[in-house]
Amino acid sequence: MSFRADRLLLFGATGDLAQRMLLPSLCALHTDGLIDPELRIIGAARSDMSDGEYRNFARASLEKFMPAERRGRMADFLNRLSYQHVDVNDLAAFGPLAEKVGLPAERLAIFLSTAPDLFRPTIKGLMQAGLANNGTRISLEKPLGHDLASSREINDAVAAAFPEGCIFRIDHYLGKETVQNLLALRFANLLFEPLWNAQYIDHVQITVAETVGLESRVDFYDGAGALRDMVQNHMLQLLALVAMEPPSSFSADAVRDEKVKVLRALRRMESGESVTGQYRAGAVSGTIVPGYDEELGRDSNTETFVALKAHVDNWRWKGVPFYLRTGKRLPQRVTEIVVQFRPVPHSIFNGTKAKPNRLVIGIQPEENITLSLMSKVPGLDRQGMSLRQVPLDIAMPDAFSGKVRRIAYERLLLDLIEGDQTLFVRRDEVEAQWAWIDGIREEWHKDGMAPKTYSAGSWGPSAAIALAERGGVSWHE
Ligand code: BG6
Repeated sequence: MSFRADRLLLFGATGDLAQRMLLPSLCALHTDGLIDPELRIIGAARSDMSDGEYRNFARASLEKFMPAERRGRMADFLNRLSYQHVDVNDLAAFGPLAEKVGLPAERLAIFLSTAPDLFRPTIKGLMQAGLANNGTRISLEKPLGHDLASSREINDAVAAAFPEGCIFRIDHYLGKETVQNLLALRFANLLFEPLWNAQYIDHVQITVAETVGLESRVDFYDGAGALRDMVQNHMLQLLALVAMEPPSSFSADAVRDEKVKVLRALRRMESGESVTGQYRAGAVSGTIVPGYDEELGRDSNTETFVALKAHVDNWRWKGVPFYLRTGKRLPQRVTEIVVQFRPVPHSIFNGTKAKPNRLVIGIQPEENITLSLMSKVPGLDRQGMSLRQVPLDIAMPDAFSGKVRRIAYERLLLDLIEGDQTLFVRRDEVEAQWAWIDGIREEWHKDGMAPKTYSAGSWGPSAAIALAERGGVSWHE
């Protein structure tokens, strides 16, 4: 439905995500004049607060989580906010909420930043109060289930009230500028596409490494683990963007049609193609940190690290493995994609072997693209030409100095308000992702696989290195 929302109803308005990301992003959009002056933001949560108290709460969050130089128009932004306390399990609470929002609920966008077990009662309340009219948009935060069956239940409950064209499932990685730049790199340059296939690419690596540990989300994380927390969503979206066919346009369905084909082509994982780990005490960036079980206060079999060798079974990627790894308490925070090309077919340089080209796409913390090329070492060699690998580097911040780097939620909230679903995950994608993840968990279960230990500050268990080495590959570090 194409309209620009004039009201944004935010459930979970006092939660961590709202404080750290949503309120700062909305304030940034306001400051830069990117949202209409009439857009009202209505916060909803369990605590009993007046509008004024919520504005004070929001001010404190912005002061904590937004750089001072970006808060120039904060007072003006706070005037957009109002608040309604709602216990979503109490249907009667939605009457006063509807009054606060104002009926009819045309041009309304809703953001559920709450635990998924609250989605169903919230949607029921919204329907009953007339806040889920044809056209109302709804955005959902992860986790969208813990397996395919539970994700279908959530999707069914949402579909009972909202058509797919109004459902905006968030994967915040898609909001990252650097992730969108993958599409620009692949489809706005002629250079890569002819080589982007099994004939020229040996393998692909995707790493999402984090230095943080369990943080405050003890129960959620221990119930999820790295596979469900990171691979099911962010890493599979990155894989899909790397592996997809060129869409015919940059429109929501054209892009998502191509991604879902990749996700459906993922081969069921066989045993021996995955490694899980759990960190023990160690040192990350010089700081001693406790082990996972110590942080948790009990023993657990939850994996904080996973490495996988995935295969996309289609013509383009026949025989090209995609190595994925992610973990907590690794030595550095880095997200990158490495595309390793095959060697040249024949060396003319008297036995000096040319190292195969490699494209490294740095997603975070630094955004840069590096293409390794072979070059002649300057000098008057008698024995033939000496060659060395040299990097061709593009540092995005230098290329675009003066441009503000946007955080993912600024993009995603703006698209929700404007109604553009391109960077949101469609139902068939999320279900294809879960179907593949369920297959992996079934194999783990069958094999009785338990996570191997690794020291905090290392790159995971040695078995992850062996997994790559068996395929003749070493992880890029
Ligand atoms: C979240 C996961 O989805 O992504 C977290 O639940 C993880 O465990 C986070 O830390 C990583 O996001 P980013 O943007 O910091 O890479």
